[in-house]
Amino acid sequence: MKICIIGSGYVGLVSGACFSDLGNTVTCVDINKVIVEKLNKGIIPIYEPGLQELVERNLKKKRLLFSTDISSSIKKSDIIFICVGTPTKNNKADLKYVYNVVKSIKSNLNKYKIIVTKSTVPVTTGDKIENILNSKKNINKFDVVSNPEFLREGEAIRDFQYPDRLVIGTNSKKANKTMKNLYLPLIKKGSRYINTSRRSAELIKYASNAFLATKITFINEIANLCEKSQIDVQDVATGMGLDDRIGSRFLRVGPAYGGSCFPKDTRALVSTGQIFKTNLSVVKSVINSNEKRNKILLDRIKLIMKNKIKNKNISFLGVTFKSGTDDMRESPSLKMIPFLVKKGAFISYYEPTGQKKQFKSKNITFYENIKDACQNADLIIIHTEWNEFKQLNFKKITKKRNFKVFDMRNLYSTSEMKKNKINYFSIGR
Ligand SMILES: NC(=O)c1ccc[n+]([C@@H]2O[C@H](COP(=O)([O-])OP(=O)(O)OC[C@H]3O[C@@H](n4cnc5c(N)ncnc54)[C@H](O)[C@@H]3O)[C@@H](O)[C@H]2O)c1
Repeated sequence: MKICIIGSGYVGLVSGACFSDLGNTVTCVDINKVIVEKLNKGIIPIYEPGLQELVERNLKKKRLLFSTDISSSIKKSDIIFICVGTPTKNNKADLKYVYNVVKSIKSNLNKYKIIVTKSTVPVTTGDKIENILNSKKNINKFDVVSNPEFLREGEAIRDFQYPDRLVIGTNSKKANKTMKNLYLPLIKKGSRYINTSRRSAELIKYASNAFLATKITFINEIANLCEKSQIDVQDVATGMGLDDRIGSRFLRVGPAYGGSCFPKDTRALVSTGQIFKTNLSVVKSVINSNEKRNKILLDRIKLIMKNKIKNKNISFLGVTFKSGTDDMRESPSLKMIPFLVKKGAFISYYEPTGQKKQFKSKNITFYENIKDACQNADLIIIHTEWNEFKQLNFKKITKKRNFKVFDMRNLYSTSEMKKNKINYFSIGR
């Protein structure tokens, strides 16, 4: 099939590369000329394991193309995937990028096309897109389908190739048949395909993200209780997770959830609730609790440092919102690091994906490796859970004698740390 992907970021680029790998001819479009130039040379602008090889292979086979020419890319394609960003503005999803794309599609509808929203868009967006595209000239020339994307950064290719489920929101039999055909190789490998109404598909995405955010926030709050009652939250999470009705995933404690999806999608869901005069009180309180999480962890740092933060060297291991990605959007470090600098700390950090220019302060320094970042540390903060942070010999990486470790991901055993006489602090235990 001939596919056009509009927006070549985390979702668009991965989807485009994976669809081309399934044998389709895919043109990935972006308005950012620099991104397109890089991609045409086989340079991947984001960190995503396995993506480089996939792009190179399909570029060579000429099944994957990159372009800034939105008009011709739309005209020559049968299926158009909208994969542009939907950030939040005033706590609502800002759909200006989506509607800009829809305008381009409207002026280039030269034959029947399926217009698919892969971007996360609020309930009724598909209806609005349909209204914009509708005109006498365009009768029977399009179907608007919702096909939300559930991939996780860092695991995006696997998630795309082996999805738990494929959700296709459309009442059009014709569009559904084509979409099922497109995804047939994944369905044959065992992925569940569900056809729902378009609005249902839109809501499935928001409800899923809000639910996962709730699970994270829930266990983080339980961890707060564990810290005050001498209970190990890991035991609680294991005990809960073994119940099939609950499941163990997303019951891992840590900093506030961040990233490009959960914070904005929970806010946008509440705003959809308001439009439909429905109080989504659980989601509201998840947002509220998550916002307070940074302060809780910063208070913990103050306690660990006995309120002496001024002139202390604090080293961060990992600054992105989680391991496996270079995505800094809404990363808790963006709040924690500037706060600590304001209190007079000197921050050094190491980030495996090489995020050198994230912080603008002469008191914040990026280092190329763990040892250099930690050599003068009074406090080492493990902020994300990369494998290379899991087996550190802390006494070898820092020169200070009375250093402390605050492990925000519970990567180490408390008893081991005690045995090794390391001043070790973790979460919920
Ligand atoms: N990142 C994720 O893990 C993830 C997972 C599932 C769903 N989503 C959703 O997918 C959507 C895209 O997210 P992302 O993280 O890939 O965004 P992104 O910011 O990485 O990429 C968006 C791209 O769209 C381009 N763009 C904007 N306007 C354009 C236009 N008019 N024409 C062509 N290109 C244009 C931008 O230049 C950018 O490269 C969002 O709605 C997001 O919520 C993201």
